[in-house]
Amino acid sequence: TVGNSTNIFWQESPIGKLERQKLLNQKGCVVWITGLSGSGKSTLACSLSRELFTRGKLSYVLDGDNLRHGLNKDLGFKAEDRTENIRRVGEVAKLFADAGLISIASLISPYRKDRDACRAMLPDCNFIEVFMNMPLALCEERDPKGLYKLARAGKIKGFTGIDDPYEPPLNCELEINQKGGVCPTPSDMAGEVVTYLEEKGYLQ
Ligand code: PPS
Repeated sequence: TVGNSTNIFWQESPIGKLERQKLLNQKGCVVWITGLSGSGKSTLACSLSRELFTRGKLSYVLDGDNLRHGLNKDLGFKAEDRTENIRRVGEVAKLFADAGLISIASLISPYRKDRDACRAMLPDCNFIEVFMNMPLALCEERDPKGLYKLARAGKIKGFTGIDDPYEPPLNCELEINQKGGVCPTPSDMAGEVVTYLEEKGYLQ
């Protein structure tokens, strides 16, 4: 029995992971970007994807906001919905990584246990957690969608960082933060991740 299904079997893929890696000259992995709304997750995801593309490496961005328009349109923002949101995106990110792509997931993913569950889904250490460690005050000042303002006014309930928790990672692979009070540029942020991927042999 798997989940709610019985009598189901695992069908082996006709092409091995190593064969795909060889074909694409890259090693599939999941770059999981977590942080508050307005912390720059999507900016980093886009800049990283473009930088990889320029280097001839294939990636795909799984953006929380975008996936909520389709795959996750039945989910809201209460704790169990966020957990299910992260679980589904984790599973999709895993498929993309298995296909050989660098899958870049960009979601608030506020609960540590949900991110850790995604990490556990990817046994070969191919889960790279990137924490956008930007102060709430900065995110709130940026307020690109005007949502913090609405949350402060009580018009959105359960907004992350205001009246819903954000649990920062304890052991992430990378942390992006301000240096001397200055935010890194999108290309600097992407550069940090690319350097990590290069060092760990994902770009071959
Ligand atoms: S989560 O927590 O990981 O399931 O969230 P995610 O799928 O990344 O979606 C976050 C975007 O949804 C908008 N939004 C909210 N965020 C947090 N809390 C509440 N209550 C909420 N309601 C709507 C918001 O625009 C988030 O976008 P980003 O890109 O993070 O700014």
